[in-house]
Amino acid sequence: MKNHKSLIVNNVCKRFGDFTALDGVSLEAKKGKVTGLLGPNGAGKTTLINIMTTLLKPDTGSVTVEGINVLKNPSETRKQIGLAGQYAAVDEYLTGRETLIMVGRLYGLSAGLAKKRAQELLERLDLTTAADKQAKTYSGGMRRRLDLGASLVATPKVLFLDEPTTGLDPRTRLQLWDTIRDLVDQGVTILLTTQYLEEADALCDFIYVIDKGKMIIEGTAGELKNSLGEDIIELKVKTSKLEEVEKILKKSINKQPELDKPTRSIKIRTKTGSDDLLKVAEALKHSKIIPDELSLHRPTLDDVFLSVTGNRQDNDERH
Ligand SMILES: Nc1ncnc2c1ncn2[C@@H]1O[C@H](COP(=O)(O)OP(=O)(O)O)[C@@H](O)[C@H]1O
Ligand SMILES: [Mg+2]
Repeated sequence: MKNHKSLIVNNVCKRFGDFTALDGVSLEAKKGKVTGLLGPNGAGKTTLINIMTTLLKPDTGSVTVEGINVLKNPSETRKQIGLAGQYAAVDEYLTGRETLIMVGRLYGLSAGLAKKRAQELLERLDLTTAADKQAKTYSGGMRRRLDLGASLVATPKVLFLDEPTTGLDPRTRLQLWDTIRDLVDQGVTILLTTQYLEEADALCDFIYVIDKGKMIIEGTAGELKNSLGEDIIELKVKTSKLEEVEKILKKSINKQPELDKPTRSIKIRTKTGSDDLLKVAEALKHSKIIPDELSLHRPTLDDVFLSVTGNRQDNDERH
């Protein structure tokens, strides 16, 4: 029977000295889909990527890629996978084309084939105009694409992308999302890590959320949003009014609002949305406070994340 799982991670633990970086982590990635590993800095994402791609051995647990036992057969595994790391590793002095040809030769392609493959990838990753310029002249987005190109030279079945868009500007990020979607259309299985909820929402067929070395929730973006089972009332007020408004709200609807100072927002989770919204509006009017924004919406991934970790994500995008 055809196995529809490209990747199975079972109960992986990894300690560095007496620090536990991964504490019994399990996940699966379906063939030809994008599986997301979402978590804040230090959650353990890169550690798990390194274990899945044979760069690091776990203390306990097992990893299977395309039916191969990764821990027992690392060199067999490497023939099936590609990895683009968190920091694009490109040689500054080689051109994009030279880089890809060199990688092809390292994988044992003939000179002719390596050249052909390099040209294909330059076209696919939209790097043809810069193909013969040194990588030191490349922008951040171009470096990422070149690094991704290098990971694709050997036509991997499973591609691991560690924070592929961190540090990229919004436009370049969207371009990279398109590239990732193209790869999926061609049947590649992708496991990507990200700190961006928006990215997980846009790209991933299935999402695992990891925090402090533990898997905390998993599901499709829709399932995660529905898991809260509540609507959200959200207000933005002047920073100086945040605490006063918090008190007013608490009194008017008898619920503890959640404050987020960096975004000046106050959220209230509610099962009786419009009723509570009216109460909130009335109480504010009574206190002569006009919020900059007041809305009632279905939960976003951000709300889910906040409720399970107590951490807000994506802050850097709002600066
Ligand atoms: N080689 C190492 N030695 C000691 N601690 C490490 C090592 N690698 C990672 N860590 C720690 O493990 C935790 C998880 O790191 P990492 O997997 O890089 O997180 P993420 O990629 O999610 O930001 C961090 O607290 C990090 O400092
Ligand atoms: Mg990392």
